[in-house]
Amino acid sequence: MIESLMKSYRNKDPLVAYTMQHSLRQTDVQKRLDEVTLKHRRAGMLGAPEVLQLNANLMQAIGAKKVLDVGVFTGASSLSAALALPADGEVHSLDLCEEYVNIGKPFWEEAGVTNKIHLHIAPAGDTLQKFIQEGRLGTFDFAFIDADKVGYDNYYECCLKLIRPGGIIAFDNTLWDGNVINSEDQSEDTVALRKLNEKLRDDQRINISFLKIGDGLTLCFKK
Ligand SMILES: C[S@@+](CC[C@H](N)C(=O)[O-])C[C@H]1O[C@@H](n2cnc3c(N)ncnc32)[C@H](O)[C@@H]1O
Repeated sequence: MIESLMKSYRNKDPLVAYTMQHSLRQTDVQKRLDEVTLKHRRAGMLGAPEVLQLNANLMQAIGAKKVLDVGVFTGASSLSAALALPADGEVHSLDLCEEYVNIGKPFWEEAGVTNKIHLHIAPAGDTLQKFIQEGRLGTFDFAFIDADKVGYDNYYECCLKLIRPGGIIAFDNTLWDGNVINSEDQSEDTVALRKLNEKLRDDQRINISFLKIGDGLTLCFKK
């Protein structure tokens, strides 16, 4: 299992393997969802388990009850968040593609958390704008942004409005397989992530930690 995950994330660092072997606490349902997802043609999109576990630990540490999961794929991040939240917690899961999400639904059911997960199948920017127009400002505790990279900045600005002070916005893939420091890579996704990383570094609305975990995880703590 660990080996297949390591291969999946193209990380051959034995110390990374060691940290995972000495910290991962996935439930059986989570492990099985990962196994199914790793056989999917888009397996590379699966959230790294150590990243999802850190998010879950942070949710519990700040007493989170309402979470935005922006980019669901087969539902691993939504499942992890739902397991971390109390019985009256809510995960709002945003994705375009129902086909991907349908893979995860039986696992949510098996884990007994389907009632906590509210699915919004639409472009994530539209759903976040709808929440803002509905006046849900400052009512969320945690957002995990893991959808299309060119959309990250828009999702950030929306989530900053929707998250309460003291809440957390976590961005996945902010190292983008190392390409953020490869100046020859001027692809749209890489340029968008580089610009976002520079913006977050200088943004005084937040405190920040940029972690070399998974494919890079940037944690923004709303002031
Ligand atoms: C990297 S995957 C998410 C992985 C997931 N968070 C996990 O932990 O396994 C990215 C997801 O974003 C979705 N996506 C891409 N563009 C989107 C958009 N504009 N609005 C909503 N979802 C989008 C894709 O359909 C895909 O399921």
